[in-house]
Amino acid sequence: MTSQAMIAEASHRVAVRDARLIVGHVLAEAGFGPSRDRQRVLTWPQVQLCRQLIRRRSQGWPLAYLRRRAAFWDMELTVSPSVLCPRPESELLLELSEQIVLKPGAWAVDVGTGSGALAIGLSRLHPNWQVVGTDRSRPALEIARENGERLAPAVHWWWGDLLTPVRMRHLQMSLVVANLPYVGRGQAVDQEVHREPPDAVWSGADGLSHLRRLIAQAAETLAPGGQLLLEVGAGQAKAVAALAAAVLQATASVHSDLAGHPRVVVLRKSA
Ligand SMILES: C[S@@+](CC[C@H](N)C(=O)[O-])C[C@H]1O[C@@H](n2cnc3c(N)ncnc32)[C@H](O)[C@@H]1O
Repeated sequence: MTSQAMIAEASHRVAVRDARLIVGHVLAEAGFGPSRDRQRVLTWPQVQLCRQLIRRRSQGWPLAYLRRRAAFWDMELTVSPSVLCPRPESELLLELSEQIVLKPGAWAVDVGTGSGALAIGLSRLHPNWQVVGTDRSRPALEIARENGERLAPAVHWWWGDLLTPVRMRHLQMSLVVANLPYVGRGQAVDQEVHREPPDAVWSGADGLSHLRRLIAQAAETLAPGGQLLLEVGAGQAKAVAALAAAVLQATASVHSDLAGHPRVVVLRKSA
């Protein structure tokens, strides 16, 4: 069977773009570079693998899991079903970090690092900061470490609940960045989100359980004058800013993503 025939067969079950990417992925795994050769003949194991991946895609598995990689910022990250597929809107956290000036050697942490996307991005943008990625999921931290070895070897990877690994080391952070779970129980999400780790998505009844706890922990772990950059869901920015004002005496600004949705709350703790 040729790659064109495979794509035609697959297009009855999945979008043509997805079929192309899956066939391209199977060929790339076999050592073929990006090819426009529609007449390339697939081996029988390649046909079987394509069919298996196309079936999983039609069952709602994210393409990133099937190809085991996701594009984020200027990187290609390894992903697996143990980690959230990094989203383009989270790149706003890295964009905002570009405006932050810290002393060389200052500590910055990405809490709930998943694939390591934000910690690795921070380390590459700010090579003179000490960057940490933390997660409570050991399988996620393994993926982050693997990505880190390839893309940002200086990042420290610490296991534990929110900022606990930082507190245990008696450190204070100048910057805390977090894209933690923020979907409330019962909220409707896309079919693909149900394939992602529940611990990466859901956060109590109103979606704010993790952010509430993180802000409380930052009272101790964030250095005076330090900043928190938090990704939030729809309708959460005001509540998060109010919480931080009460707990950290922090000033807040809200930043929208490219689609115009309020997406990141920047908090500065009083000095
Ligand atoms: C929404 S995902 C974000 C992953 C990554 N930061 C990104 O932007 O692609 C949230 C991550 O937080 C982790 N997590 C959930 N609860 C946690 C906790 N209590 N302490 C540390 N990490 C936690 C999950 O395992 C998951 O990797």
